[in-house]
Amino acid sequence: MGLEANKSMEYHVLPPKGLLNDPNGLICYKGIYHVFFQWNPHGTDHGFKYWGHATSRDLVNYEYHDAALEPVDWFDKNGCYSGSSIEHDGKLYLFYTGNVKSDEGIRTNYQCAAVSEDGMSFRKIGPVTRHPEGYTQHMRDPKVMKGEDGSFYMVLGAQRDDLTGDTVAYRSADLITWEFLGSIMSVREKLGYMWECPDLLRLEGKDVFVFSPQGLEPEGDRFNNIFQTGYYTGCFQGGRFHWDGQPFEEMDKGFEFYAPQTFVDGRGRTILFGWMGTMPSEMEAAMPTVREGWIHHLTLPRVISFEGGKLIQTPVEELVGLRCEKEEKHGRSMDLDIPDRAYELNIKIKGPLDTFGLVYRNEVRLSFESTERRFTVERTNWATSLREVRGVKLDGALESITIYTEETSMEIFINGGEEVFSLRYFAKDEDRNISMEIEGAEAGIEAVSYRLE
Ligand code: FRU
Repeated sequence: MGLEANKSMEYHVLPPKGLLNDPNGLICYKGIYHVFFQWNPHGTDHGFKYWGHATSRDLVNYEYHDAALEPVDWFDKNGCYSGSSIEHDGKLYLFYTGNVKSDEGIRTNYQCAAVSEDGMSFRKIGPVTRHPEGYTQHMRDPKVMKGEDGSFYMVLGAQRDDLTGDTVAYRSADLITWEFLGSIMSVREKLGYMWECPDLLRLEGKDVFVFSPQGLEPEGDRFNNIFQTGYYTGCFQGGRFHWDGQPFEEMDKGFEFYAPQTFVDGRGRTILFGWMGTMPSEMEAAMPTVREGWIHHLTLPRVISFEGGKLIQTPVEELVGLRCEKEEKHGRSMDLDIPDRAYELNIKIKGPLDTFGLVYRNEVRLSFESTERRFTVERTNWATSLREVRGVKLDGALESITIYTEETSMEIFINGGEEVFSLRYFAKDEDRNISMEIEGAEAGIEAVSYRLE
């Protein structure tokens, strides 16, 4: 699959053409960042999934390559589904799920490996695990990591025979022969019917188990998207996750965020990319970019840390290198003009506030009010034309907001990344204004913005 890079956006990884979904195989290999992604190069539907491939030296500028994996073998003929990568003995190993459907529509999954000496061309090794008893064929998305005991562990999203979600682990000494260990959960927790894309992050003082359960019912401000991504905290050892009992916490409170993956880079940073998608099919069909032959993109890369019992997400500092013209404004209400480009806006709240409101391009509205400490983001659903809202109760006062936007995409970081909202939005070309207003006797706004290039 050859390609021409799609130039529609500036700092997000996006499909050269066709459809992109999950980030896969993230790694810094021989000093170069590799970002693979679920990719259908043939259309903007979820038809046949390849592994698309982009590389970068700085997490800001990307070079796009031919597909790393194509669904052309008996064990992956209906899709090279999501997975991860790991370096071993100088080689780059990819692990992914081969999705196979029979003529009768019956699904079989194979956890497969591929290997490369240069990070560019990959030789498929084929299936490396056996399907365990007690689970349906909904088993996928291998994340492979090295444990403290020197063994390799593979965790997989799974569905038990009783149609509840789970994550299972395998162990290996050589990445080729794998022993089944069973469920990773020390306590059996019922949360939806399928868990996709498991990941385990070792952060200072905590292990964080991130996964994307399907089948959760909305509860107030929680679980309002079609599918969610969130995490449990605890301790992962010997293939078991000892959950500390803290509730499942959604990672991103916006409209479009799913199936993220993390990796640790050469500087020891835990970096996450997510998919800014998962939405009902009528929203995919109505997405304006489909007319240009592509759909969806990844989030910007975010550094993940764990502080005060919470995951903190902040944009990688490399993005600072994109800053061009700067504008600064102080006041209690203000208007800013947004250039026809990528844009960064940093807002600091001064003094105690009663309410804060921001209207972005006459389309996205951010609001906060101090009594309930509720922060909300509202936009128009482009398929139904209805306004829709996502919200969260902040732990404390609203202190800062950082917004990264491109023409149709926005990521909002609140209070230094304590809460994040990711969303797509579609505003009119001519609407290029932001207005902000704050209430509270001594409250004020300090806004610093940059055009990004
Ligand atoms: C998550 C997911 C994965 C699967 C992939 C297929 O979005 O459904 O579970 O491997 O997408 O593209």
